[in-house]
Amino acid sequence: MENKSGKFIVLEGIDGCGKSTHARLLTKWLASKGFSVLHTKEPSRGPIGLLLRQYLKLNAPPRVDALLFTADRAEHLEREIKPALNNGMVVVCERYVYSTIAYQAAQGLNLNWLKKLNSFVLKPDLVLFLDIRPDIAVKRTTTNEKFEELSFLKKVNANFKKLAKNEQFLTINAGRGKKVVQEEIRKKVLDWLTKESL
Ligand SMILES: Nc1ncnc2c1ncn2[C@@H]1O[C@H](COP(=O)(O)OP(=O)(O)OP(=O)(O)O)[C@@H](O)[C@H]1O
Ligand SMILES: [Mg+2]
Repeated sequence: MENKSGKFIVLEGIDGCGKSTHARLLTKWLASKGFSVLHTKEPSRGPIGLLLRQYLKLNAPPRVDALLFTADRAEHLEREIKPALNNGMVVVCERYVYSTIAYQAAQGLNLNWLKKLNSFVLKPDLVLFLDIRPDIAVKRTTTNEKFEELSFLKKVNANFKKLAKNEQFLTINAGRGKKVVQEEIRKKVLDWLTKESL
């Protein structure tokens, strides 16, 4: 069923760029404006998302990462995102197909293979790319997870920049303080929502 009436907003960017921080603040603010909002993320909290979090600790081959992230996406879309959109909700999702493309291409997988694998996905209505210097982002991370390494994140951020240009993301300079970044996000989302409803 594709009779969606809600709005699907995705936040993308490398580890430590502020996706969780800004998705939380944006969700609260949209709710205070009267929107009904679902805040969600990839990997999801569903069974494949949980498996994936464990699997990431094992240093799996990149193709397995890509397949698991994509399987989780398929399940998350059917189980959570589409039902919320069909109920007219605004969905704020941290990470989506563009993370699989940017990260797994940086791991050496073929870009066209990644795109084809993900050709089933529902296109978001708006993608906000939190662009940040990777050295600043790495300083912000407190964990030491699989992808949180400077030279790798430089490649990933470069891939996100290319996607942002080709796919018309709204790029936000996320290297600034939380307050100004959130203000810009709110302004851009509100302008966009207003234009959409005209
Ligand atoms: N503009 C900012 N200035 C300074 N610190 C920030 C800013 N935005 C977020 N932070 C801090 O940086 C850290 C990383 O932010 P956050 O967890 O939101 O990033 P993320 O993109 O969700 O990362 P991950 O992909 O690893 O989940 C947090 O401790 C957060 O409080
Ligand atoms: Mg996060």
